[in-house]
Parts: sequence; C-alpha cells; structure tokens
Amino acid sequence: MSGPLILAIESSCDETGIALVDGGRRIHANVVASQVALHAATGGIVPEVAARAHLRWIVPVLEAAWQDAGVGWSDIDAVAVTYGPGLAGSLLVGISFAKALAWVHRRPLVAVNHLDGHVEAAWLLDPSEAERAEPEFPLVALVVSGGHTFLAEMRGHGNYRLLGETVDDAAGEAFDKVGRLLGLGYPGGPAIMRAAAEATSRDVTFPRAWLGETYDFSFSGLKTAARRIIDAARADAGLPPVEPGAAPAVDLPPGVVAELAWGFQDAVVDVLARKTARAARAVGARSIVVGGGVAANRVLAERLAREAAELGLPLHVPRPGLCTDNGAMIGAAAGRLYATGARAGLDLDARPNLPLASR
Ligand code: KG4
Ligand code: ZN
Repeated sequence: MSGPLILAIESSCDETGIALVDGGRRIHANVVASQVALHAATGGIVPEVAARAHLRWIVPVLEAAWQDAGVGWSDIDAVAVTYGPGLAGSLLVGISFAKALAWVHRRPLVAVNHLDGHVEAAWLLDPSEAERAEPEFPLVALVVSGGHTFLAEMRGHGNYRLLGETVDDAAGEAFDKVGRLLGLGYPGGPAIMRAAAEATSRDVTFPRAWLGETYDFSFSGLKTAARRIIDAARADAGLPPVEPGAAPAVDLPPGVVAELAWGFQDAVVDVLARKTARAARAVGARSIVVGGGVAANRVLAERLAREAAELGLPLHVPRPGLCTDNGAMIGAAAGRLYATGARAGLDLDARPNLPLASR
C-alpha cells in the first residue's frame, strides 16, 4: 500500500510521539519520548508535569522523526493528531502544535480518537518488515491500557460496536496500583511481568470478577483483594501493613513478591483472555486484535494466542513498542480516516472524555 503520507502526533498522556506513516500501514519514522522516568519519582502521572514535558520535547521529537524518515514537507499529505481521550493539558500541547504545522504548511488536519489508534496499531508494518496478512473483519478488538479496558466488535475500519468495558478501573491502572503495593515502582505493568517471570511457586489465587455473561470488566475489587493478600504476606514476614499513600514498600522477600505478582497477573490475564475468546465466538469473528499498553504483556499475548488457536482464529498483537502510546498508531488510524475524506477544522478542541465511537 502507498500514500497518503501522514505526519501523526500523539500527546494524550505521558508519551510524546511523532510518526510518519504511509497508507495507514507502513511506518517511515516513529519517535517516542517517554516520561516514565519523570513520573517514577511521584509514583504516577502529575498532569501539569506531563503537559510541560510534552511542551519541552515535542520539537526535538519532530526533528528526530524527520531525520529517521529522510523526507520533507513536500512529501506530507496531512497532519494528524490525537484529540481525545486523555489529559486535557497534554492533549492541548499536541493539538496546538498540529494546528500550527497544518496552518503554516497548508496541509489538512485529521483528528484521531486515541482508542481507534490503539486498535489500528495492529495494521502497522515496521519500515523494513515484510508484508503480512491484515486482520480480517469482522473481528473482536480488546484494548487494555492505563486508562481504558474494553471489548468491541469491528466490521470495518472505524466501524465499532462496543461489547463491554470496565465498570471501574482500567487493567493498566490495576497493574500500576499493585506494582506500587509490591514496591516495584512505576509503571507497574512491566515490573509485575518481570517479577512474575521469577515466581517459583504458583499457589496464591487472586479473585476474578466475571460479571456474569457480560463482556464488562471490573478491577477495583481485585485491587482491594491484592492489598489484603499483600498485607497478609507482610504480616507473615513480620512486616507492618502497607500504609495508604506512603512511600512504596520494598521490603518483602523477592520470592514472595514474585509469587504475588504472578497471582495478580494470572487473574487479570484469565479474565481478559476468556472474555475475549467468548466474544470472538459469539460474534463469529474472523480474527482477534489486541492493543494498548497492557497488550505488551507477554503472558497475556501467550494466553490469547492459545485461546485464538483453539478457535482457529489469527491473533494480531502489535510488538510491545506499538502497544504502548506512540505516534504511529495515530498515523495508522489517520490513514483510514483521510481516505474517507474526514478533515478537522483549525478550531479543533481537546476532548478529554471522548468515547469510542463509530466513524
Ligand atoms: O496504552 P498506554 O501506553 O497508555 C494509555 O493509553 O493508558 O498504557 C499504559 C499502561 C500502564 O498502566 C502500564 O503499566 C501498562 O500499560 N503496561 C503493561 C505492560 N507494559 C505497559 N501492563 C502489563 N504488562 C506489561 N508488559
Ligand atoms: Zn494509550
């Protein structure tokens, strides 16, 4: 596939991402400046700190993207930007920058829903990656990130039907919270995955919220149960309970941390994988697509691969760097939108609570 070539900007949360993507599929450049180290100091994201970091890094990230791609403005067909959902201040930095570029260079502006981007990441090809089969419709898409957890049926690009979503916390939020309770730092997701891989005993069981036959999710009870289970393990080790809001505890023996991390991860993966498989069967899906930061979890990907194999369906999970926030996923979604004639005005505003919607 080739053209349009889109310059895509992502700044909805804590990664400043700018990419050049051809035809909604081929990546020419994809530069991400992560604020993880900055937010690790506070154990989570402080919105104003995130917005200021986007302001600091957005120009250097664009310069790095131009260098990687070896193209210039004459090759660019449109400028795309995430306009929601996300943190207002963070979104405003990317939107203002995108508008300025579109206006100065007289290019159309394309507004992208961040959630659409997480799904469309499954279509991306790295610069020198061989062509491979695209996900086939109808499909079931699972998006699991720090801010969102939902299952949707997709009958074409941008044609979504929400099947279920979290009724409280996102899966990534639960990973981050439990990572903190275990003294593993921020972000909790990758840290829990690494700790869990070291577990030698797998006896601990964390509760699963099935919510009947729905495709909804709930992780707040799991968070509460995790605190109770972690405090019991701490009591066994002669340690006081974790203080709410206190500095992360780092004093449980590594073997115990590993076992608890494994038990927690197993509960999240179990619920996500079973509901996804049940949804795929129910809607007669021809493929399964997964996206969002938690999709970077190797154990989740392996479990979903087993479920998909049992159903005889192809599973499409982007490589980890395309699961977490990046500009290329916005370029992927923008390529499809551009082809439908979708254009945003220079009065585009940030939509912090933008829902997943059919185009
Ligand atoms: O998609 P993302 O980068 O940002 C949002 O749109 O929210 O997702 C970030 C989330 C964080 O909660 C982080 O802990 C989680 O994704 N995450 C993981 C892994 N890598 C990132 N969770 C589990 N396992 C991982 N390997
Ligand atoms: Zn995201």
